[in-house]
This record gives sequence, structure tokens and C-alpha cells, in this order.
Amino acid sequence: MLLATGGAGYIGSHTVRALSAAGQDVVVYDDLSEGHRDAVLDAPLVIGDILDTELLERTLRDYGVTAVLHFAARCYVGESMEKPQLYWRINRDGTRSLLDAMARAGVPNLVFSSTCAVYGEPDRLPMTEDLPHRPVNVYGETKSAMESEIRAAPGLRSVIFRYFNAAGASEDGVLGERHDPETHLIPLALMAQRDGGQLSIHGGDYDTPDGTCIRDYVHVCDLADAHVLAAKHLLAGGESLTANLGYGRGYSVREVIDAIERVTGEPVPHVVGPRRPGDPPQLFAEADRARSVLGWNPTRNDLDLIVEHAWKTLTPAPRTP
Ligand SMILES: NC(=O)c1ccc[n+]([C@@H]2O[C@H](COP(=O)([O-])OP(=O)(O)OC[C@H]3O[C@@H](n4cnc5c(N)ncnc54)[C@H](O)[C@@H]3O)[C@@H](O)[C@H]2O)c1
Repeated sequence: MLLATGGAGYIGSHTVRALSAAGQDVVVYDDLSEGHRDAVLDAPLVIGDILDTELLERTLRDYGVTAVLHFAARCYVGESMEKPQLYWRINRDGTRSLLDAMARAGVPNLVFSSTCAVYGEPDRLPMTEDLPHRPVNVYGETKSAMESEIRAAPGLRSVIFRYFNAAGASEDGVLGERHDPETHLIPLALMAQRDGGQLSIHGGDYDTPDGTCIRDYVHVCDLADAHVLAAKHLLAGGESLTANLGYGRGYSVREVIDAIERVTGEPVPHVVGPRRPGDPPQLFAEADRARSVLGWNPTRNDLDLIVEHAWKTLTPAPRTP
């Protein structure tokens, strides 16, 4: 049995479903602060706070858990600068609480959700795992600090994944991205179309071919597949590993808008505003390690496909009375 903290959230729910499809039993542990009860499919749900070490320990013991996937976190860059204490509490103290519970219950395997935000502005591209950590926001600082503690935890084996930009949704339209507030480009652009709003592009004068920022968008189901492999790797006694998860190819904001217009057949209303502090011009991964060590073979590396799946699962506009 596996335990997925934050399994009611965006990446966690897609992963739980992929694990179940692969024949792996999973229990979800989530306080539903950001996640959704109806996103937990094919798995029992324990509602609890990551800071509740006793409940975590009891859950690990009761379900006979052998490995944990730790998605639960606060993950808004802007909010992390406004409320740093909240981020240290949930992301650092929460992870410590989980590590304590795992040590007490004798669970030796962990898959941890880290982020490309640990690198800050990289010296070179594509970004390899050995680049120095120079996070430019509190969110990235908390994740970088927890990576170090996880690596140093006695008796623990871990796969630390640094996701680039998770995007898209399940192919059948059952699961999707439902952050509140939404901060990710593709859902924001689709929502601007749907609601008659306007997408703000943060800066059009970067040193990139079309002046907008370039990011590595990776389909959430490919991320989920990597977790299935990571769990198998650890349960088979594999070595600890830190690996990027991206496609190694970036798309600019304008290219994403073009893809959305192609797929939906509708223009994306937008306005180009000033740059946002701390936004590097380009971020894209080198993800050979996940491929070579885990045998990760992402099959959805197609921007139009990502957009199509996100569009299909976009929550309908709230009804006005
Ligand atoms: N979405 C991305 O592009 C991205 C990129 C890099 C890293 N990550 C990391 O991946 C993980 C999942 O991200 P996501 O986009 O699915 O976020 P999400 O907000 O959709 O999911 C996080 C889940 O954690 C739960 N949670 C939050 N605080 C909790 C607490 N105190 N106790 C118990 N549960 C709690 C929420 O209810 C939610 O279900 C996070 O750790 C995030 O930092 C995400």
C-alpha cells in the first residue's frame, strides 16, 4: 500500500489514478484545503493535516504503507512572498512531520514533489540536476531546504522529482486542474476566453525570439507515470535519486497562446504588461536522468495535446443567478 499526501490535488489525483491503473493500492491523505474530494478516485481518503504527525503515523500503520508520495504543499510563488511563514509551516514543518511519522512507523521510501524553482535563474540551459540552488522566492527556498533534509534523513530512500510546468489533464476529461486562485498560463488563458476576461502577459521584452518567457510544459499524466516508476524503483530496492521532470523543450507564452487559438478556434484576449520580478526568461529541463534510471518514456510531449486536454476538463463558468 502507498500513501499519497496531497492526493486530492492536481498532480496527486492524476498520480493516484495512474497508480491504481497500474495495480497499486493507494490511500490519500489530504486536508482538502486546496484539493477536491471528487478528485480522489479508486482510493480511500483520510482527511487530515500534514502537521498532524499522530494521525499520519496511525494512517501509515493502519494501512500497512510501504512508500509515501508527498505532494501536499502550498505552491503559489506570489503567495509565498506575501506569507512566508505559512510556506515554512506547511512545506517545511509539514514535511518534517511526515518524516517523523514515517520514521516512527518504519516506512523507508519517499517520493517528493520538488520544483525547478529550486534553481532560480540558471547559468545554462537545458537545466541539469547538478546546477546550484539559487531560489528567488520563498516557495523555492522551502523546497530546496526539504530536499536537503530528505537526503540526510537516516534510513530513508527517496526519489526527488523537480517538476517543470505541469499542464494538461486526464485524457478522458475526468480529472483536471482546479487551483484557486489559478496562476498557471494554460488554464488562465482558457478561462479568459471562457469568461470574457483578459490574460495578462508578464513582459514582452525578454531576450527570447518573440520577447515572452519560455517554459517547459509537461503533461500531468506523464508526470503521473514517472511516479508509478519511482514507486516501483524504491520498492524494488533502487538507489535514491534526484531527477528533473520536463521535456527538454520550452515554449514561449506567445507559442502557448497560438496553440490555444489553434485548438479552440477562438482568440485569447490578452494584454502585455510589465515583467514580473524573479521571472527568468527561459527555463527548460534536461530530463535524461529520469529516462535512463527509471525508464521514464513520456508519450504526451505535444503542446496542442496538452491544451486540448486542459480545455476539455476546464470547469464550466460559475452560473450567475
Ligand atoms: N503544479 C505545478 O506545476 C508544480 C510544479 C512544481 C512542483 N509542484 C509541486 O507538486 C505538488 C503538487 O502540486 P499541485 O499543483 O498538484 O498542487 P495542489 O494545490 O493542486 O495540491 C496540493 C494538495 O495538498 C493538499 N494540502 C495542502 N496543504 C495541506 C496540509 N497542510 N495538510 C494536508 N494536505 C494539504 C491540498 O489540499 C491539495 O490537495 C506540490 O508539492 C507542488 O509544490 C507543482
